[in-house]
Amino acid sequence: MDVFTINEVRKTFINGEVKEEILKGINLSLKGGELTALVGASGSGKSTLLTIAAGLQPASDGQVIFEGEDMITMSPEQIRKIRASKFGFIFQFAHLVPFLTVEEQLMLMLDVSESKLKKHEQKTEVNEILRLVGMDHRKNASPSSLSGGEKQRVAIARAIIHKPKVLFADEPTASLDSKRSKDIMLLIKNLTKTLNITTLMVTHDEEMLSYADHIIKMSDGQVL
Ligand SMILES: Nc1ncnc2c1ncn2[C@@H]1O[C@H](COP(=O)(O)OP(=O)(O)OP(=O)(O)O)[C@@H](O)[C@H]1O
Ligand SMILES: [Mg+2]
Repeated sequence: MDVFTINEVRKTFINGEVKEEILKGINLSLKGGELTALVGASGSGKSTLLTIAAGLQPASDGQVIFEGEDMITMSPEQIRKIRASKFGFIFQFAHLVPFLTVEEQLMLMLDVSESKLKKHEQKTEVNEILRLVGMDHRKNASPSSLSGGEKQRVAIARAIIHKPKVLFADEPTASLDSKRSKDIMLLIKNLTKTLNITTLMVTHDEEMLSYADHIIKMSDGQVL
């Protein structure tokens, strides 16, 4: 079954006097356990589409159906809850909280997602996820002592600690060198499969496309 269905989604921005249509009727569907890559020229609307699917901004028109319900008809509070408990996010930069250790970043995320686990269960969960991304030996480290690739692995752990249904990634490897990019992509791909996550990833990097199950090409606000 499709986890996500996007029907005829349009997005219009008003820049001064001019109305600009940035998304011109987008249709796509995403399934669990599949990694979909979104590619296209700068300004083609990739991040706009990703943030609309993620409930970070509303579409101007169309439907964004998540688990059978149209997000456009949901209240801001309903959307916030879904974002916190069912979605995970990875961005170009890790954006770790500078004064929290690796372990504390993940514990905080469990609180935000309103995890029902007891504290000691949360710690076990955090350890398990850190092992999954190969960072369990650095759980007491502060972000400033980590390399770019290590930070990004912690950011991935933080994005999946609450076992999201959907993972949104906007250029997750753009700040990394080629070797680390491949490691991170392999990690995202494996997590998508083993945890049955629906992953939507924007990338500029042609090399990363070999990891995707589907490639969606955007041009000027449309899917080609
Ligand atoms: N809040 C906004 N107000 C006005 N215009 C916007 C807004 N957000 C995005 N745009 C415009 O929408 C277009 C698509 O932007 P978007 O960020 O989706 O592109 P992108 O494909 O992610 O590009 P890049 O690869 O450079 O990240 C751009 O022309 C951008 O200027
Ligand atoms: Mg973008």
